[in-house]
Amino acid sequence: MLRRLHAEQPTHFEFTPANLAWAKGQISKYPAGRQASAIIPLLWRAQEQEGWLTRPAIEHVADMLGMAYIRALEVATFYFMFQLQPVGSVAHIQICGTTSCMICGAEDLIRICRERISPSPLTLSADGKFSWEEVECLGACANAPMAQIGKDYYEDLTPEKLLALLDDMAAGKRPVPGPQNGRYASEPLNGLTALKEFESGRTQYNASVQRQMDIGDGLKRIDGTEVPLLTPWLEKAAPQPAAADSPREPVPAQGIPVDATGVAVQQAPVVSPGRPEKRDMEGNATAPGGTAEAEPGAPVANDAPVMRQPQSLAAPRGGQADDLKVIDGIGPKIEAMLHAMGFYHFDQLANWTAEEIAWVDAQLTAFKGRMIREKWVEQARERLKGK
Ligand code: FES
Repeated sequence: MLRRLHAEQPTHFEFTPANLAWAKGQISKYPAGRQASAIIPLLWRAQEQEGWLTRPAIEHVADMLGMAYIRALEVATFYFMFQLQPVGSVAHIQICGTTSCMICGAEDLIRICRERISPSPLTLSADGKFSWEEVECLGACANAPMAQIGKDYYEDLTPEKLLALLDDMAAGKRPVPGPQNGRYASEPLNGLTALKEFESGRTQYNASVQRQMDIGDGLKRIDGTEVPLLTPWLEKAAPQPAAADSPREPVPAQGIPVDATGVAVQQAPVVSPGRPEKRDMEGNATAPGGTAEAEPGAPVANDAPVMRQPQSLAAPRGGQADDLKVIDGIGPKIEAMLHAMGFYHFDQLANWTAEEIAWVDAQLTAFKGRMIREKWVEQARERLKGK
């Protein structure tokens, strides 16, 4: 199925304050420079807030994570969990149509969707409450046929059961997810044949259904009123920078070239069959291309800058970050990127060494080079003098 952005898009997207706090909590789970790892939860939260995933939302999330828009778009268009067009205000029904479900009756479920919701997939029902689509295997093949509705799996479906679910949801009820034919989980229909001792003392529903019944957000959208942060480390006191004479914690290599580790000579011959010719701005050759072979034992030529990750903070000291935007060249987007990396204060920037500046610069992707051109570190030092 083609997955494309909807033809009609809103002009703007902002997280609600509560969702923004939640999103920052998600970003804080990843080390500096790896914020892109938070893309799926942030896109998901944007979708929960709006009902579907808009282009401004995708681009907003990409900006927050310092990613190129195309990278965020690749994620949004790859996963079926992201709805790229408006969906039903009550529920979007995703019917699995892959082999096990097809053999067990998925086509009958799709017929019900066509009759009850809309003749075409990804089209709203007349009352705007429902939409549907066929998706690939959702990994619940032992409970085929099944559908994902909201965050929940509804399994062991029949046309009658699916109709009853739609009626309940339209009436504002929250049907119990999981198997719809009396099974506890994915055991044989006649019950367990082994490990029967586990039947005693178990919860009313199987683990995932029980969890959902306890949380109760299967169909709910997150409007910003109740958002559990689940990031207790953000509430902890921020670690203070180590004293200059205290031993540094070992850190991962973070792109430090091998010759910076003490290896000064290359033991094996270096062959570079595809090295391009170097040219200046006018296109004149300044260094030959083609194959080059280094003599064993010759010093390694390496133009890559030496980088070191600066010490970062889990949160601003005293809960109050300096306004980094007063530095010429730092706007709200770059400030958010610096915060995401754990840099909140002028003194952090002012103390960066050349290696640390190189590391931070490398993380600033689309804004690479600006911190050096615009002398952010020097500006931060001037700010400190004025304090
Ligand atoms: S085939 Fe439907 S869940 Fe796997």
